[in-house]
Amino acid sequence: MAYKVEKATQIADNIFELWINAPHVAKNAHAGQFLVIRIDDSGERIPLTISAAKEDLVRIVFMTVGKTTTYLSKLKVGDEILDVAGPLGHPSEIKEWGHCVVIGGGVGIACLPILAKALQDAGNRVTGIIGARNEKLLLLADELEENCDELVICTDDGSRGFHGFPADILKQKLEDKNIDAVWIIGPAIMMKITSMATIPYNVKTFVSLNPIMVDGTGMCGSCRVTIDGETKFACVDGPEFDAHLVDWDELMNRQRIYPEQEKQSLELFHE
Ligand code: FAD
Ligand code: FES
Repeated sequence: MAYKVEKATQIADNIFELWINAPHVAKNAHAGQFLVIRIDDSGERIPLTISAAKEDLVRIVFMTVGKTTTYLSKLKVGDEILDVAGPLGHPSEIKEWGHCVVIGGGVGIACLPILAKALQDAGNRVTGIIGARNEKLLLLADELEENCDELVICTDDGSRGFHGFPADILKQKLEDKNIDAVWIIGPAIMMKITSMATIPYNVKTFVSLNPIMVDGTGMCGSCRVTIDGETKFACVDGPEFDAHLVDWDELMNRQRIYPEQEKQSLELFHE
């Protein structure tokens, strides 16, 4: 069975959204979970977060960073994807926390709408904070306005919203001392730095880890991460973990183990 693309749109600089017909995923998807897709039988498998699910359709939002995401960005309505495996990973810990802050950096913002909605549905007050290098890289702000009680937009260059980083806004909010749980989703360095802000306040802080994944089922070991000194597989034990227990340096080193192969693969794709 192949999976048809029902909608394909560019939503920001180098960022695209696809709605894919995948009823088995759409009907069972929860916030925090992801898919592993393979476009065709010569393609690699890549993990992408489930950004939304509606009836038979599931949405992915991705940035073009290499061969497979570039290939995905060229798909049009009616094209087919060979494999869509999911939903994978543990859902986010949704319960009545009180006041939750959800923070997205760059393409990590894509993970927030489904999370913010689930938290609101569970009775929480939700503050969203989204950040990007500039306004052309901001995404899904209108949708998040609907699913958050309050949304703060930040850009590194001040081209829209607050001139600065989500961590600056988080620090201000933490001083008000009324935050019960925080989610931070984005590049590893952003998650590491932003999550440091909550340590002195002892606020439960989740991050969604993005190591290289291959099978997504706990068999290959490529997504190995260290949490509180213990080895975990992000695909089956995560992808969300307590931010304050993550070995960030190991994660960032392991994300960069195939730069030459990734470069060659993209060059061959463009030839
Ligand atoms: P490549 O040139 O192959 O790689 C570019 C960089 O992407 C690498 O240096 C590496 O850091 C990372 N990467 C490469 N292959 C993988 C892989 N198999 N698994 C994980 N990372 C890889 N990106 C999004 O844009 N949107 C999302 O919603 C999203 N959700 C993710 C959810 C999870 C659980 C994980 C682990 C990653 C997620 N990513 C997401 C990252 C995405 O999987 C990579 O950007 C993608 O695999 C890059 O493939 P490529 O061939 O285009 O680039
Ligand atoms: Fe293979 Fe997690 S991706 S064990």
